[in-house]
Amino acid sequence: MRTATKLFVFGAAIFLVLAAAPQTATRPKPGPEYASDGQLQFPANYREWIYLSSGFDMSYNEAQQMDHHMFDNVFVNPEAWRAFVATGKWPDKTIFVLEARGAEGKGSINQKGNFQGSVMAVEVHVKDQARFADKWAFFGFTAGAKTAKVIPSSQNCYSCHSEHGAVDTTFVQFYPTLMPIATAKGTVEAAHK
Ligand code: HEC
Repeated sequence: MRTATKLFVFGAAIFLVLAAAPQTATRPKPGPEYASDGQLQFPANYREWIYLSSGFDMSYNEAQQMDHHMFDNVFVNPEAWRAFVATGKWPDKTIFVLEARGAEGKGSINQKGNFQGSVMAVEVHVKDQARFADKWAFFGFTAGAKTAKVIPSSQNCYSCHSEHGAVDTTFVQFYPTLMPIATAKGTVEAAHK
C-alpha cells in the first residue's frame, strides 16, 4: 500500500472507533442489568421510558386507610412497549417501573387538588425468562439504592398480579393506551374480558 492509502485507512479506522465509542459508553443496554451478586441494577434512565399511567390513591384493600394521598406513575422500557403495540404481548426483557410519589396540596399558586411530591418508593417488575422460574420477578428499591434483591415468590406481589393482571401478570386494564391494543390483539386473559 502506498503511504497515502495507509494513512487514509488508519484515519478511517480511528474515526470509526471514535464514532462508535460514545454510544456504547453512554447508551444504557435495553434490558435488565444485574450486579455480580445477582441483584437487579436500578434502571436509572426509566424517566426516559414510555409513560403508561398515574394511579391516584389506588388501594386494593377496603380496610386500608392511608393518612396521606399518593400518586403512582408507571413506565415501561421502549423496546418492550414497541413489541406490545405490535403483538399485545410482553417480550422477554420487559421492565416496568412503578414510581410512588406523595401527593401535595399546598404549594405555589395551588388552591385545590393535588400535585406530585417526592419519590416514596420505586418498584420494578421484570420479565427475564431464563433467569426466573415464573418468567417474571419483582424488586423494591429503597431511596437511593443502586441494586435490589428479588422479592421472594411467596410475597403477595406475585399472587395479586397473576390473579388480577389483565395481560401476563401486568395491570394493562389500568393503562388506558394499552388495554385497547390487548383487546384488539386478543391477549387479555379470560377473567378480564
Ligand atoms: C392486591 C394487588 C396488588 C399487590 C399485592 C401488588 N400489586 Fe403491583 N400493581 C397492582 C395494580 C392494581 C397495579 C396498577 C397500578 C396503576 O394502575 O397505577 C400494579 C402495578 C404494579 C407495577 C407496574 C407494572 C405492572 O405489573 O402492571 C409494578 C412494578 C408493581 N405493581 C410492583 C409490585 C410489587 C413489587 C408488589 C409487592 C411488594 C406489588 N406490586 C404488589 C396491584 C397489586
